[in-house]
Amino acid sequence: MNEKICIAVIGCGRIATNGHFPAFAALADRVRVKYACDLIRSKAEQKRQEYPGLVEQVITDYKEALADPEVEAVFVLTPNYAHYVITMDALRAKKHVFCEKPITVNYALSCEMAEEARKQGRILNIGVCNRYNKSVEMLEQMNRAGKFGNIYHVYCSFRSYRCIPGLGGAFTTKAEAGGGVLIDWGIHFLDLILYILGGAKLKTVTCDAYNEMAKDMKSYSYLSMWAEDTANIETGTNDVDDFITGYIRTDKASISFNGAWAQNIGEDEMFIDFLGDKGGARLSYGGHFTFYTSNEDGVLEKINYSYNIPNQIQCEDAAFFTAVRTGEHTKTYIDNILESAKLLDSLYRSAEQKSELKF
Ligand SMILES: NC(=O)c1ccc[n+]([C@@H]2O[C@H](COP(=O)([O-])OP(=O)(O)OC[C@H]3O[C@@H](n4cnc5c(N)ncnc54)[C@H](O)[C@@H]3O)[C@@H](O)[C@H]2O)c1
Repeated sequence: MNEKICIAVIGCGRIATNGHFPAFAALADRVRVKYACDLIRSKAEQKRQEYPGLVEQVITDYKEALADPEVEAVFVLTPNYAHYVITMDALRAKKHVFCEKPITVNYALSCEMAEEARKQGRILNIGVCNRYNKSVEMLEQMNRAGKFGNIYHVYCSFRSYRCIPGLGGAFTTKAEAGGGVLIDWGIHFLDLILYILGGAKLKTVTCDAYNEMAKDMKSYSYLSMWAEDTANIETGTNDVDDFITGYIRTDKASISFNGAWAQNIGEDEMFIDFLGDKGGARLSYGGHFTFYTSNEDGVLEKINYSYNIPNQIQCEDAAFFTAVRTGEHTKTYIDNILESAKLLDSLYRSAEQKSELKF
């Protein structure tokens, strides 16, 4: 029971480098990385060099790790299009799986993944790491405790001035990423909203998606570009949303949002407003929140709480390891993320069809 969990890490790119490997190092008393796997061998090899006591072997074919009975769990940290196939292979090989967000690019396939996890009796957690953010946890508890009264509307903005990643590469190619700013940033915001609302269920969804700022890739001006290494403006593709807007009705609150990877407004705005009849809150994405209410004397209050925000990826990985040992279905077990997958899928369908979808 207390033995270290033996894992394989499939995909050694940015989220592996910046998020999960540092978390594994911090949780080294609970985990051993038997395999670091990447199609590009040097990327996996780099992990072995950076974490010599932690990473044991380097491979390029994930099926080698699935064939090893010692491996109990795998981390699927590949681009979106590969989530479904690798996760399904891993579950069928009786491994527990942590799969990065989004589950996959299609709701029906996400449901198949959930069904396979059930059939195999294995944990399948999804990397919606914001559910482990301390502020998000506090807001969810405050809502359950009735501090907001009735939350009737939530608005969120995930807009940036110039932030299209890897223009012309995988991030801006629909066949690989499944979408643009909505699937990359929006899913984090919308998932944590459904979570804080207490598992809100969709009633109607309407959305418009735009590809405006780099439709002529060569004329897109910018200051810096993350994922620059994948930029390919000569022969690459840019067919995803760089601006998205939508309106969602749920059985709890309505939700409206705007998201931009790039826009001709020079402000970055990353926040979520929860509007309740007793209280409201503005959450700075990834940071703290301010709570607005009035006390029994009718005095208006604006409260900022002081607390540290622990590393959310380390918290989600620790929760996954606990779930592997206990079998517990946590708040990021796939069944609890399917409504977010349905939302993502239906927002894109609504944008394509230019009409509202009803459930
Ligand atoms: N939770 C978060 O906050 C967060 C943040 C960033 C990215 N992500 C998600 O993480 C995933 C990866 O994103 P990234 O930015 O790290 O991408 P990336 O391109 O930097 O890394 C992906 C790696 O996977 C490798 N790969 C692809 N197919 C493979 C296969 N079949 N076998 C082995 N390796 C394979 C690639 O060679 C690459 O090195 C995406 O799904 C993304 O949505 C989540």
